[in-house]
Amino acid sequence: MNFNLNFDSPAEIASECLVVTVLDHGEGSANQAKLFSSNTGVVEAAHEVIQSGEVTGKAYETTLVHRPHGLKAKRLLLIGGGKAKNFSTVELRRIAGTAVRFLKAKNIKTFAIVAPDLASGSVDSIKSVVEGALVGGFDVDVYKSDRKIQQIDEITVVTDADKKVAETAVKEGQILGDSQNFTRVLVNEPSNRMTPTRMGEMAQQMSKEVGLKCEVYGADKIKELKMGAFWSVAQGSDEPPALIVMTYEPQGAPEKPVLALVGKGVTFDTGGISIKPSDGMEKMKYDMAGGATMIGAMRAIALLKPKVKVIGIVCATENMPSGKAQKPGDVQIAMSGKSIEIINTDAEGRLVLADGLHYARQLGATHLIDAATLTGACVIALAAVNVGVFANDEGIAKQWSEAHKRAGEKMWRLPLDPEYGDMIRSSIADIVNSGGRWGGAVTAAMFLKEFVGDTPWIHLDIAGTAWIEDNKAWISKGPSGVAVRSLVEFTKELAASK
Ligand code: BES
Ligand code: MN
Ligand code: ZN
Repeated sequence: MNFNLNFDSPAEIASECLVVTVLDHGEGSANQAKLFSSNTGVVEAAHEVIQSGEVTGKAYETTLVHRPHGLKAKRLLLIGGGKAKNFSTVELRRIAGTAVRFLKAKNIKTFAIVAPDLASGSVDSIKSVVEGALVGGFDVDVYKSDRKIQQIDEITVVTDADKKVAETAVKEGQILGDSQNFTRVLVNEPSNRMTPTRMGEMAQQMSKEVGLKCEVYGADKIKELKMGAFWSVAQGSDEPPALIVMTYEPQGAPEKPVLALVGKGVTFDTGGISIKPSDGMEKMKYDMAGGATMIGAMRAIALLKPKVKVIGIVCATENMPSGKAQKPGDVQIAMSGKSIEIINTDAEGRLVLADGLHYARQLGATHLIDAATLTGACVIALAAVNVGVFANDEGIAKQWSEAHKRAGEKMWRLPLDPEYGDMIRSSIADIVNSGGRWGGAVTAAMFLKEFVGDTPWIHLDIAGTAWIEDNKAWISKGPSGVAVRSLVEFTKELAASK
């Protein structure tokens, strides 16, 4: 998908289709649709269809007009943005995604879209259009032999912003949209193809392309580092594990802070000996989404070049039952020296992350963020709407909350009271790996907290949000790529504030 900019009046742009946002200015349940463009040509061309009452401005409602009067475009596509007073970059991204999905289904290859004048500025507007279009263009049907290649080749973004500013905004939007899609490609792959080894290769190849340092270690190194928690999961699988370490160290970056992004890369989670029911188990190919999120975020960071050191760590392994697999009741010693009594081998994500987080601190991390499809309990609590957020420090919690709001990603903080710590005490070791059903997302986070010491830390439980169950107008069902944009926002701010 290519992007170009056009600074002319939208009415004068010859294209297959001109896409314009319509907002609902009505109060309460009443609708009052109005174009989000003051261009008189476009307003006149849309006048009749808006007067007809067919258009409400409801979010993602599409109205296609052929041969719009007075426009050089062959078609005019109006897309609803919902209530005018609530309109933000979130809706704008989705409008661009909707435009892509709606038009490509009609075999249209190119279109022009008006980047509206947002209060937050034209950079935000242009960036959101580009991000949303790229995210909307992604499809999951890669293994269908009769796959129809329907794609948008070129999008013209119409704006009256300064040329230089607009060009930078397009570039940034492309980096973010492509990086989010890179994460989605990894997550979409089935586990027989996206093995830990393959994940390592993909990280390495990407790193080479964008100028990151990347090392991929195997079982020997994991044992040498005494990562007993990570290895306890990996030992049960015939697929070799991979410890992926990506380093971004730009010239001129201060020695501190050092941000570490640690991802759960369980390429398939059967549950191990505490095996999962077969119903829905195929979904557990996305249990490496946290790792893929960090790989996508590292890609964007390497290309956007904020002046701060960032380390990306992915603990990739399968969780399998076998004659070599760990068993409930086993005791494992983590890299930090803490002893863990295994109650449930299906609580494997926290085990691989325990060593990933400890290793990150050893590598000098001053700020830690982990992402993981960690618990079913988080899905019960927040469904597919919000990412579960945990933090051990109010400062980083505030920085994170601002970052995800700027990125337009929904997240909700959950508690880490010391009382929850009592639920993971073991009678024979330091801690158990499962605190049982009640407060399952919290006790999992409490387990991780045992390994971060006093380093400011954010834990993201993306079990519910990493996978979209149904097609939406603006995005395909399947992997969402959630949290990539927020991680980039956080990193940029960390670089700017030090
Ligand atoms: N990968 C799962 C969590 C999960 C559930 C991800 C649903 C995506 C969708 C995790 O490894 C797991 O199995 N967690 C257990 C923990 C329990 C055994 C303490 C869970 O949530 O049931
Ligand atoms: Mn599990
Ligand atoms: Zn898992």
